[in-house]
Amino acid sequence: MIRLAVLGSTGSIGTQTLEVVGKFPDEIEVVALLAKRASEKLLDQVLRHRPSIVVTYEKPSQEWLSSLPEGTEYMFGDEGLREAISLADRVMNAVSGIHGIKPAYYALKEKKTLLASNKESIVCLGGLVRENRERIIPVDSEHNALFQLLEGVRREDIRFLYLTASGGPFRNWSIEEMKKATPEDALKHPNWNMGAKITIDSATLMNKGFEMLEAMNLFDVELSRIKVVIHPQSVVHGVLELKDGSFFLHAGKTDMRIPIMHTLFYPERKEYPFGRVDLTSLSPVEFEPVDEEKFRSLYLARWAGEMRGVYIPVLVGADEEAVSLFLEGRIGFLDIVDLIEKVLSSVNIPDPENLEGILEAIEWARRKVREIYEKECAEIR
Ligand SMILES: NC(=O)c1ccc[n+]([C@@H]2O[C@H](COP(=O)([O-])OP(=O)(O)OC[C@H]3O[C@@H](n4cnc5c(N)ncnc54)[C@H](OP(=O)(O)O)[C@@H]3O)[C@@H](O)[C@H]2O)c1
Repeated sequence: MIRLAVLGSTGSIGTQTLEVVGKFPDEIEVVALLAKRASEKLLDQVLRHRPSIVVTYEKPSQEWLSSLPEGTEYMFGDEGLREAISLADRVMNAVSGIHGIKPAYYALKEKKTLLASNKESIVCLGGLVRENRERIIPVDSEHNALFQLLEGVRREDIRFLYLTASGGPFRNWSIEEMKKATPEDALKHPNWNMGAKITIDSATLMNKGFEMLEAMNLFDVELSRIKVVIHPQSVVHGVLELKDGSFFLHAGKTDMRIPIMHTLFYPERKEYPFGRVDLTSLSPVEFEPVDEEKFRSLYLARWAGEMRGVYIPVLVGADEEAVSLFLEGRIGFLDIVDLIEKVLSSVNIPDPENLEGILEAIEWARRKVREIYEKECAEIR
């Protein structure tokens, strides 16, 4: 029996994880659930899966607490997070954004198998990730594909790893049109249904920027060998080009339950329980280069990745805050990447040496975004 903790259980990945788990009741035991809020959805999940512990980061009401079933203990915040991790063999980290960094950190420190969905943590915890590679199974469809493609491949035989990108909702928009894009436009992802933060990152392509840094940390491949290619259909998730001219492609339906199931049981393979996919339904398959002038986020991510040190958490923190400002309707779509660039070019803080340093660099970048925003707004007024 696999003992599983699902962190971020109420989100898109968390919900799909529990959907897969529900198909294998005799093989996986959900020992812990964690979310931000003590919501009805979380309570429903607790009643269905009966974990030993449920954790939230916002205090629940008395009524919510008294609805918990016998055998499920409630714990608050980081203390609960650490207890949840200690009970599990495998930890699904599906907490969104920068809040997913501590869960990944504690899971790796505790030597648990990390099913890594949250990308900010894999991007920021480079050293720890590299030391614990054999304990991390990536959930993100692109990295999950590359993880599978790379099994048994010698690093010296690799020419390039390709991360496929749908191109997001603005692939065919002009820069002038993108200037006027609203949160509603940006939240309409063509192929995937995901949380708000990652959907906006997909529209700016910063999501692919983070994915390049993730791939660098996860697979021991230098950044110059990691490329992004537009693939509008999102059925090929990763491509491996070897030095002898061979290309290996990993394809599958646009369904996160496939990589999720892979990580839950790896190295075992299970029958996909949601209906077989016919190969012809995966066509056509097209690839195009990315317009990097339109999507400057890729350049910024590569630059931060080459600079390393403090620049990576600063990139992540600045993106988190700029995306919030855009979702609040305070800045335009193209201002997201402009603000990140301004913050990256004003870095004057030291490289972080530990988790606290990484979190401080993120907070510094978030404050800097707000500062630049307030200043520019004041100038316009
Ligand atoms: N969705 C996808 O298809 C996809 C694909 C690849 C990678 N990812 C990555 O997977 C992660 C999760 O994405 P998602 O789309 O599932 O996000 P989501 O739908 O927004 O869900 C986020 C989850 O994290 C919890 N959470 C948010 N803030 C928290 C905090 N401060 N403390 C503790 N828990 C908190 C939420 O709890 P509440 O519900 O209580 O707010 C929710 O359970 C992200 O890092 C994303 O980049 C997602």
